[in-house]
Amino acid sequence: MPKITINGKDFDFAPGQTILQVANAGDVPIPQYCYHDGLSIVASCRICLAEVWAPNPRNNNKLESLGKLLPTCQTACTEGMVVYTDSPKSIANQKAVMEYLLINHPLDCPVCDQAGECFLQDYSYEYGRGVSRFEEAKVKQPKKDLGPHVYLYSDRCIMCSRCVRFTREVTGTAELMVEGRGNQEQIDVFPGVALDNELSANVTDLCPVGALLDKDFLFTQRVWFLRQTPSIDGVTASGDNIRIDHNEGRIYRLKPRTNLNVNKWWISDEIRYSYKFVHREDRLRWASTTTKTGQRVETELNRAYNAAAAGLRAALYGSDAQSTSAPSRRLALVVSPMLTCEDAFLLATAALAIDPRAVFAVGPIPRQGNDKTFPGGYTVYAEKAPNARGVRRVLEALARDRRASDGHVRSFEELTGWLASPGAAELGALILTGNYPSEWVTEELAATVARARDRAGLFTLLIDTLPNRFTQGPAAFDVVLPSATWTEKAGTFENAKNLLQSFEQAIPVLDGCRTESQIALDLVHEWTTGSALGSPRDNAAETRRRMADPSRGGSSSLATFLTDVHHPAIEVKQDADMEMVEL
Ligand code: SF4
Ligand code: FES
Repeated sequence: MPKITINGKDFDFAPGQTILQVANAGDVPIPQYCYHDGLSIVASCRICLAEVWAPNPRNNNKLESLGKLLPTCQTACTEGMVVYTDSPKSIANQKAVMEYLLINHPLDCPVCDQAGECFLQDYSYEYGRGVSRFEEAKVKQPKKDLGPHVYLYSDRCIMCSRCVRFTREVTGTAELMVEGRGNQEQIDVFPGVALDNELSANVTDLCPVGALLDKDFLFTQRVWFLRQTPSIDGVTASGDNIRIDHNEGRIYRLKPRTNLNVNKWWISDEIRYSYKFVHREDRLRWASTTTKTGQRVETELNRAYNAAAAGLRAALYGSDAQSTSAPSRRLALVVSPMLTCEDAFLLATAALAIDPRAVFAVGPIPRQGNDKTFPGGYTVYAEKAPNARGVRRVLEALARDRRASDGHVRSFEELTGWLASPGAAELGALILTGNYPSEWVTEELAATVARARDRAGLFTLLIDTLPNRFTQGPAAFDVVLPSATWTEKAGTFENAKNLLQSFEQAIPVLDGCRTESQIALDLVHEWTTGSALGSPRDNAAETRRRMADPSRGGSSSLATFLTDVHHPAIEVKQDADMEMVEL
């Protein structure tokens, strides 16, 4: 493979790679503002310039300087090239560029959201002069409201044009432009056209300084207080890799994690702001039951488990409630496509412990319009559920291997059709799971279930996160258990392209709630011992091992959960640049 040398170290390169790409891959620090892997190369900021030498074939391949400093982001590597980003000439350029960029910069770091993750700050410290020689008045630029999600603080802009290129090359919407010349240059939108596309807030990630800011995050947290947890999109079928930034149990923002096979560098605004329902004031926090007089009462979780087990036993085993004979009626379990594969496995296992002939169905899969692919290759999926395929995969494996659910998994439409038919009398109990980010129980669905309850005396158990027609009012379920969102648990989702990806728990489970996996483990313990106390703790990695082990109720076809799940790369902890002094 051809080689180049950067600051004394040799690197292999592929034809077409630029010096900066090779340096970035080899962890050689070269300052860069306008360059981004996902955008075209314009070489406008000039901070990456370096001294470059190369063999001259017309002079016996003698190493010769290429003269002027060259932009490493735009210069393709050639065999035997020798690059110095730490030579006196290169360093003088870095200092000059930094001084130039800061001439009109307001230096308002104490009130800037970007402080702590700003490349102007970092490069000032590493490559800047430390003092400014500029004594004239700075040019003041306005703040602008660019669209529903983004503010522009023009006087912090360094004109790298990343944001402009993003709207032209990735979204193809071209709302942004550079207007004016010289020190009057500004980023702007065209008159009457807001920055309003499905990916608009990505420009706030792209902006290397604090010029483009996310309205949603504005002035909410200093970034150094945030802890970061790798996760996966929890509201659409994209499987986009995200990072959850949180502090003291509260999520402040979601950011994209780079995955070139899935979302590249981007996420949609829908995914970026999808965490809002996690902190809704009206989240279900308490278990509740319906009394014999039809009153709704909040109850302690263990009592609710007790009521659930008693209700299931009476509904399925009838007067034989204490005997060990086969249930006279069947249990239907509906697993929501918002749940993890681990949740699906443990819920199905619990259902089979209660009724070996239990019927499985996948919950309703919301869709909105059609898939939309942008010119940059990013797709916004119409399917608004993260794990319809994973849930079905797990349920089908158990239905097949444990001869349950008549050997197949029903769609939600099939199940509701069954509930609406006279055949519903065969069903004695329904366990329904939700966990959707917004209202999902339609009037029609509530009426169908209510009719089945009236006709067949169906016992109903709901596991959900937000209030809906099944948690209150005339259609309320017999027992409601409050559950946890995907940000409060670890697990695995299978995306629209059948990629299995695991994610970590970011924030603690809301007080009073449990993950669906934990609820399933508690229910089995309650069913078999008469108490949920002492049930095993939910552990996603352990559940995946169990899923793959037929001797522990798993299935050999679920061994894929041990071999094919993509786990998030563990971020390397960075050492502080400054020495910490204990006082
Ligand atoms: S607003 Fe940010 S991304 Fe856009 S040109 Fe200015 S510095 Fe670059
Ligand atoms: S990163 Fe090379 S000129 Fe901007």
